[in-house]
Amino acid sequence: MAFNFITAEEAAAMIKHDDTFGLSGFTAPGTPKAVLEAVAKRAEKAHENGEEFKVNVFTGASTNDHVDGILARTNTMGRRAPYQNTPDLRKRINCHDAHYFDRHLSEMAQETRYGFYGNIDYAVIEAADITPDGEVLLGTGVGNVPTYAHMADKIFIELNEKLPKSLYGMHDVILLQDPPYRREIPIFHANDRIGSPVLKIDPNKVVGIIKTNSYDGVKPFTEPDAVSKQIGSNVVGFLLSEYRKGRLPKEFLPLQSGVGNVANAVLYDLGESTELPSFMMYTEVVQDAVLELIKKGKCTFASTCSMTFSDKTEEELFGNIDFFHDKILMRPAEISNNPEVIRRLGVIAMNTALEADIFGCVNSTHVLGTRMMNGIGGSGDFTRNAYISIFSCPSITKEGMISNIVPMVAHPDHSEHSVDILVTDQGVADLRGKDPVQRAQAIIENCAHPFYKEILWDYLKLGKGGQTPHSLAAAFAMHVAFSETGDMRNADFSRYC
Ligand code: COA
Repeated sequence: MAFNFITAEEAAAMIKHDDTFGLSGFTAPGTPKAVLEAVAKRAEKAHENGEEFKVNVFTGASTNDHVDGILARTNTMGRRAPYQNTPDLRKRINCHDAHYFDRHLSEMAQETRYGFYGNIDYAVIEAADITPDGEVLLGTGVGNVPTYAHMADKIFIELNEKLPKSLYGMHDVILLQDPPYRREIPIFHANDRIGSPVLKIDPNKVVGIIKTNSYDGVKPFTEPDAVSKQIGSNVVGFLLSEYRKGRLPKEFLPLQSGVGNVANAVLYDLGESTELPSFMMYTEVVQDAVLELIKKGKCTFASTCSMTFSDKTEEELFGNIDFFHDKILMRPAEISNNPEVIRRLGVIAMNTALEADIFGCVNSTHVLGTRMMNGIGGSGDFTRNAYISIFSCPSITKEGMISNIVPMVAHPDHSEHSVDILVTDQGVADLRGKDPVQRAQAIIENCAHPFYKEILWDYLKLGKGGQTPHSLAAAFAMHVAFSETGDMRNADFSRYC
């Protein structure tokens, strides 16, 4: 079938207030770059004329400035799920201009198919290529596009000329059947393929192809600071000691690693370790550090949902794609983050906390309990099902005015039932096999910053019994002290004795 080439503005002219989009991609890679930006510009004009104009946007994870950034700045974002990380959108979410529901990434696709979130009016898909019969070669991120393309009434294709056709073979695309017809997901090793190298869509749904020509715009990797390096070395020290004790198999296990400085620092240290064997990754994103590990032979294979590489690294990948071709495989989020597969493979999960409490619960999402930061992302998918679940964070934030170890997390994302190991720059607390008080002792002793050790010991003494001896009156005294005085060290637990 012959497709219509149109401009992004022509695509935007078809959109109505309250239409719902499902986008390809996962983080910036694979996310469309033109149509939503044109929709935002159109909405801005409508707003000037006093018209209501917002759209709803469902994705795989976070996006880019051409989607979340501009839609937020123009106040065009209606409903949004399942994850975001853009400062402009964060502001809209925290004042309820945008209606964000924060979901486990592995569940978004199936819940959309179950009909929980309504109709998908348009899928917008970034592609390296499309055949007349609707075989789409995706870009550098997959996300939930198989579901959105399947459900959408209409489809726009953004054909990005920067994407090489040699990406063919680096995707493993599958659309799962829903209960009661769901079958097992036959991935027994991180490098097993179960799907198709292309996304198959109904070509009759395609209302236009828009040409684009740009990289994903991911910021380059910055050298980890001293605190991140210390956390990284503590995580690797812990893994090494588990390996020496024979609690990790000699072949090692696939790793999942979050994004950011700490994750990069951990991967860097793993690459340096001569004692740990080469490993595979079963993860949702790979960053620049992973490409380096692949080049060194330390990481032999990475199963991921997206290649979240900086533009420079993306250029390097495209220039040497023959070398990397059989070492990286991109899958939909409901496969990359699938609980069944994560548990079967024995993935070692490494995620970042905003704050953790002395009993082992983790807050990943809400600053001081109320303000949404990003979202739970894939941390729950991996944490709950991992072989070992590791959380890390700096022991303090804002020059020590905030302790990231607190009596009770102000928003619980991961409970003590799922968190095995807590790591800060101060050290490692192994929570496995410990009762709540023993966990508190390990966390205060090994993870809390010296500024806060005595304060936290004082809190622990307040508890009047029970297996988890909280003082409900005092549990948030450190958060309250920060809100009222700007420093958690002003929490005075003697008031509660
Ligand atoms: N209380 C208040 N503010 C805090 C805080 C706390 N306990 N801990 C950190 N902050 C602030 C920091 O000061 C920083 O503020 P700034 O932007 O004004 O500088 C901000 O929160 C981010 O902190 P930072 O240490 O830079 O975070 P990060 O980049 O390492 O990200 C998470 C940490 C938790 C926000 C991030 O990992 C996340 O969103 N996780 C959930 C999603 C996830 O885990 N996905 C799975 C893997 S991809």
